[in-house]
Formats: sequence, C-alpha cells, structure tokens
Amino acid sequence: MKNLTADELRDMYLKFFESKGHKIIPGASVIPENDPTVLFTTAGMHPLVPYLMGAMEHPAGTRLTDVQKCVRTGDIDEVGDAAHLTFFEMLGNWSLNDYFKKEAISWSFEFLTRHLGFSPDQISVTVFRGEGREGEPGYIPADEEAAAIWRSLGIPDERIHRLPREDNWWGPAGTTGPCGPDTEMFIDTGKEKCGPECRPGCHCGKYVEIWNDVFMQYNKNAEGKFEPLGRHNVDTGMGVERTICMMSGAPTVYDTEIFAPIMAKIDELSTASPDDAELKLRSRRIIADHMRTATFILCDPKGGVKPGNIGANYVLRRLIRRAVRYSRFLGIAPGFTVKLAETICEKYKHVYPELAQNLQTCKLDLEAEENRFNQTLDKGEAMFNKVAEQLKAHGQTQISGKTAFKLYDTFGFPFEMTLEMADKAGLTVDKEGFEEANRKHQELSRTTSAGSFKAGLQDNSEVVTRMHTATHLLHAALHKVLGPTANQKGSNITAERLRFDFTWPEPMTAEQKAEVEKLVNEWIAQGIDVSKKMTTVEEAKAEGAMALFGAKYGDQVSLYTIGDVSKEICCGPHVANTKELGSFKIVKEQSSSAGVRRIKAVIGNM
Ligand code: ALA
Repeated sequence: MKNLTADELRDMYLKFFESKGHKIIPGASVIPENDPTVLFTTAGMHPLVPYLMGAMEHPAGTRLTDVQKCVRTGDIDEVGDAAHLTFFEMLGNWSLNDYFKKEAISWSFEFLTRHLGFSPDQISVTVFRGEGREGEPGYIPADEEAAAIWRSLGIPDERIHRLPREDNWWGPAGTTGPCGPDTEMFIDTGKEKCGPECRPGCHCGKYVEIWNDVFMQYNKNAEGKFEPLGRHNVDTGMGVERTICMMSGAPTVYDTEIFAPIMAKIDELSTASPDDAELKLRSRRIIADHMRTATFILCDPKGGVKPGNIGANYVLRRLIRRAVRYSRFLGIAPGFTVKLAETICEKYKHVYPELAQNLQTCKLDLEAEENRFNQTLDKGEAMFNKVAEQLKAHGQTQISGKTAFKLYDTFGFPFEMTLEMADKAGLTVDKEGFEEANRKHQELSRTTSAGSFKAGLQDNSEVVTRMHTATHLLHAALHKVLGPTANQKGSNITAERLRFDFTWPEPMTAEQKAEVEKLVNEWIAQGIDVSKKMTTVEEAKAEGAMALFGAKYGDQVSLYTIGDVSKEICCGPHVANTKELGSFKIVKEQSSSAGVRRIKAVIGNM
C-alpha cells in the first residue's frame, strides 16, 4: 500500500480514468441547484441526474470523472467517533449509458491494486442479493454478474458477500430517479472480528468501505416501483478521507495528513486539557470536522447559506455552535473559528479556489455567529457560577432539575455545559429532574399556533417541532400500510432527521415504504389542522388515541389530534397545520434490533 496524500490520490484517480477515456469535469457546488429534496450535495451523482436519466447529453461525453465536495449531516450527533464526517470528498467515474459492470469493476480493481497498492487479499466486496420471486412483480435478480466478475479478478467467493437492498442498492429513497444495485469495496483493517456475524457492512471498524460502484439500470417511478431505465449507467464514489486513512494505516481519518494542519491548529489554540480523555478526543474531532464543513459551506461559490434557523441555514448554525461549545472544553479563546477557517483555506485552496475567493465573507459570518453564541454562553456561565456559589454557601452539592432547566430555557445555556461545569465544580446535577422540567415546560408553554415559536435557537426549535408532527404522521401511515402491530418502540429527533423505531419482523418492501411516504405527503398536502386538548389517559384511550404501551402518564395528558389521521397522547410541541412540514422523505429503513425496524426520515423546506 502506498502512503499518498489526498492531493496525490485525486490526481492519480482522475488521470487513471482519463487514461480509460473519461473526461475530467469540475465538481459541482455543495449547495444543490434546483433540488429541494436535499439540503446539500450528498453524492457526486446529484448534479448529474439529468444526464443519468438520459434527459440530455452531457457536453463532455459519456465517460466522466470528477471530485465532488459532499456534505452529509444526518448523523451529526455521531461525529466525534472514529468514522463519521459531515464533509468529505468523493471521487467518481461515470458511464452515461456507455460501459457497464465488467469495465467498472475491473477498473476499480486495477486502480485499488496496481495503482494504490492494496493487496487483493485485503479486499472484500458486497453485491446485491436480489429480491422477490422470478415471474412476480417487483422481482429483481441477484447480481451474480457482478459476483462473477469479482471472482474472475481473483476475489474468492467467501469474500463476496450478498446483501439486501438496504446495503447494496443506491438511489433516491422516496423520490423518483435513477437507481440500481451496487457493489461495495471494503478494506480489511486486520482487526479481530467483533463476532461470528462480522462481515463487510458491520460497523465495528474491522471492514472499511472505501468505494461503491452503482449500476443504474432502474428508475424509481412516482408509484415507488422500479422500472427499467432503458439505460445502463455507472455511478461510482470513492471516499478520499477514508481511502487515505486506509493507505496510511492511520487509526482514524482525523489522524491523516488531511486533518494534520487543522488538528495542529486546534492544539496550538488549546489552553486546557480536560481530565476526561474521551471528551478531549471528541472535542478536537468535532471542532475539526464541523469547522471544515462550515468553511466549505460558507465559501461555496453558489453562496446563500448563512447561519439561521431553518433548513440548510440551521444545519450550518448547528455546526458552528457545536464547534464553539466544544472549543470551551479545550480552553480555546474566542475568535478561533476564523483562525481555523484560515488554516482550512490554506490546506485546500489550490484544489478549491473558492475558499480563498470567499474567505473574507466566510470569516465575517463565522465571527458574527461565534460572537452571538458566545454571548449566550457567557451569560449562562455567569448564571451557573452564581448558582454554584449559592449552593456551596448552603452546603449543598446538587443542582436541581429546575435550576438546570432555567439555565437552559431562560439563558439558552446548553444542558451539556451545565453538566460539564458542575463536574468541574464538584457538583452533581439532577438529570431526571431536568428532563421532567423540560417535558412539563413543553406541555405547558407550547400552543399549537404556528406564530408562537420563540426566536433564536433552542433544541425544541421550529425544525424539531415540524419533525415531531411528521413522526405522528409516519406512525399513522405505518399503521395504515403495515397494520396495527407496527407500534412505536422509540423515537428520536434531531434538526436533521427523525428516527422512528417500531415493531415489525422483516424489512419493509419498497412498495410499503413508497406507500407510507405517499400517505404522509398526501396528509401534508391536505393541510390538516393539528389540535390539542388536555384530558385523562382513560378518556384519550377511549377516543382511540395511541399511547405508548407501558409509558407512565400523569393525571392530565395532552392529546394531539391531526384531523382523522392521528390521535396520540404526547407532550408536543407540534405545528398548527400539516402544511408546515413541506414534504416528507424516508432516507433509511433498517433493522434496529430483533423484531424492531428503524426508519430515518427527513422533511423538506417550508
Ligand atoms: N452514489 C454512490 C454513493 O454515494 C456512488 O455511494
């Protein structure tokens, strides 16, 4: 394996595919043009959809290659571990109805082994295992063709894994568009297997996916059915950061040359080192990742995304504010976001000239947002110190839930900061009391009037409220499509996505998913009013309300009703009318645990 830099890898990749008849095209903006279904460009194929569909010919021909900046923030809360990044670069080669599986796979193999120097023994692959029965509607055969090509190249069958749609299918989840089975390439890190079931696709870290070849032969139509596209396209994506990590033998992407100057700058600016080594590690990674993403968004040539409270603007705000929050754990002085943007610009400007071109405005935006949030944090910290002094003066050691909630609600001071500062001050916090106060507050203060949202950024922000209502619609749609046994097992909402766990024994079919999505979107389009009333659990249940089995409710509960679609006991908050959700899209349906499925979904802009 060679030890390349990202610059060398990009270069080698583009030249390799140029030597195979591809034209090098510029990557697109990270802020998508004319595509309301995504907030950011999440893969190299987005900007090429019209050409993949055959709606028009690409001026550069039928074989293209490029490097695409991608932003994926669905898992923002997982950033800080070894693997998640919200920004990454994707190398891609495309066949627009030109070559197909044999060439695509053979070239991937040639590039990985001859040019990057991976040993064929380190490579495992996955292929689509097919679904449905021959002769029946919806049947899609297993991709034995791809498996046979891998075998002919010397990958033994035990390293060719046949996996279902959720692993080996690429395409729009929910909307229409080109899609098809894929084959993914994994590097074996040599770590121990985490268990007998461990295989490529397992998230334990033994196998790292670095490249995906998608064979787009299908179009997902408005009914959610897969019809032949009438074209055979290839869409591939190789992750720059992960590939460099695997080639250099670095333990994580953050330990590669790509992040080296950013990490060095963070360390230079740090004046404190938390005792908790894990917190220190996470803080460094979160700051590095979020600042890199924020800088690319703010410097994007398309422009227009600024820190704000809705959609892409809100994502950007969260990235910056999370970085600021974690900077405090490392004792980093205010003004650091601008300094990191400079470092990031320096690292990338020869590849992405827009960074240097737009650095000045990017810095102004960062500075303003950092200042705004620091003021909030400062006020919160001052309040915290007062509280701590008073407690100590009375010989007490615990901050009550009510006080922690006041810090959060009145002063916008994040709860994690209270926990961290309490720890430092030798105090404990009544976490359950905080949760309880938060729940009560939501019940009491939320009205269903859309105009009543507080200004500014709160965790129960507008986006989260909309997601909350979307969750009720999803629950209702699952009951309609799968039946009354598809019951809620868990729910989690962030500003980027909602997550919903429910009892169901097997993967949902594509038709079921499409039907659920269609129902929810119909209810959104119908503009149904959401109403709330206070009642008792018994009365609510008598009215047919859904309640969580085994959940504890107080004497009085709030019952939210969405027309004749949904009735649920819930703390809220909710929007006043389903129209406010814009649109709804399932992005993932996967197993959560035995007998429980998990859906991740997003809503569109208003
Ligand atoms: N579009 C494919 C992906 O993002 C290549 O994995």
